[in-house]
Amino acid sequence: MTAVPPSSAVVERLRAAGCVFAEEEAELLGTAAGTPADLAALVDRRVAGLPLEQVLGWAEFCGLRIVVEPGVFVPRRRTGFLVRQAAALAPPHPVVVDLCCGTGAVGAVLAATLADVELYAADIDPAAVRCARRNIPPGVGRVLEGDLDAPLPSFLLGRVDVLVANAPYVPTDAIATMPPEARDHEARVALDGGADGLDVQRRVAAAAPRWLAAGGSLLIETSERQAPATADAMTAAGLVTRVARSAELDGTVVIGTRPGRQGGDEPAVGRAAGRGATRPATSPRRMPPPGVPTGRRSADKQHVTRQDLSQGSPRSPRWFDPAHQADISAALDSHLAAGVPERGPFSPRPERVRELAELAAASTLPARAALLRWGALPASVRSHLLTSWFGTAVRRSSAA
Ligand SMILES: C[S@@+](CC[C@H](N)C(=O)[O-])C[C@H]1O[C@@H](n2cnc3c(N)ncnc32)[C@H](O)[C@@H]1O
Repeated sequence: MTAVPPSSAVVERLRAAGCVFAEEEAELLGTAAGTPADLAALVDRRVAGLPLEQVLGWAEFCGLRIVVEPGVFVPRRRTGFLVRQAAALAPPHPVVVDLCCGTGAVGAVLAATLADVELYAADIDPAAVRCARRNIPPGVGRVLEGDLDAPLPSFLLGRVDVLVANAPYVPTDAIATMPPEARDHEARVALDGGADGLDVQRRVAAAAPRWLAAGGSLLIETSERQAPATADAMTAAGLVTRVARSAELDGTVVIGTRPGRQGGDEPAVGRAAGRGATRPATSPRRMPPPGVPTGRRSADKQHVTRQDLSQGSPRSPRWFDPAHQADISAALDSHLAAGVPERGPFSPRPERVRELAELAAASTLPARAALLRWGALPASVRSHLLTSWFGTAVRRSSAA
């Protein structure tokens, strides 16, 4: 599509309509337009009050471009905190469910970030489900339509490692005070959480334990003010609950973990190597029936996990050596400190590199942290590291 350079008149129209970042918005709209007439139509919609993301048809979320249709909830920056918390709790090869998925943004980023995810996402709104199916195509995950957990396949019972939900949590009376972009252009079902905002969250909390694996966690985004009530609902459902807060992102997440059979309330990640052994006999590990695409290893999962943790990968047998990982971290830090100067055509964007670094830092899994950092480094830096570890020049392909 041809970019149409926006005129100063376009910038002025946007500014007059209250767009604080009028120049940046004009640029983005110009990039989305094929012709001057297209640009005029896009500017008309923006001036009429539609969220920029719905006009463009996409939103930037945690470094991914997420498809957003008119009427569908635009993923918020604060929800990046829910993603970070979920990523930090995920064991190797996790089963992840994103309830009330909207565009599927949370699930899509988790699938892009974590290795070997079996992902399911569900929403009640057909427009949201349409978007989610574009953001989570087959092969990445399955998107289902229906009321909360009703559409989830029964083979997931007792198998879910990470269940995330950014369900609506605005109290009904507070919707009138929301900015018009949200109030008038996002579906009511995406915002309205009932009298105290917690109606849907309570239903999610009550439904979660039967889906969660022992040691698996439910993570619900909420507000700082509502967090104690969200936590109460999760405690009432039998989960061991804590609240996580990011002042930087203004995000609050309540995390409830289903205790393990041996009385542990630690999250799954803390005992990844032996987690299969802690599943209660009443909650056997159920595998998808034949023919269900999972995109991951299944029947030998426990074996593979142990092997991965104890032996490392053949390409880099020292993934689990702290000194090796410290080298990677140091290289990443100096790369970031230098302002990410080197960018090839396929390198991640600088903000994506920082996002990966933050996720890696939040992860307690050394291999995952190392791999994320490794992926964030340019080929020349990886090649330099390999040469210093293995004492010989390494072909570019093996530095990938
Ligand atoms: C606040 S939006 C969040 C969307 C997405 N998780 C995100 O963070 O961008 C809440 C979503 O919950 C969905 N929803 C509301 N009630 C639901 C229900 N009973 N069952 C399934 N989805 C529901 C809405 O359609 C909407 O997409």
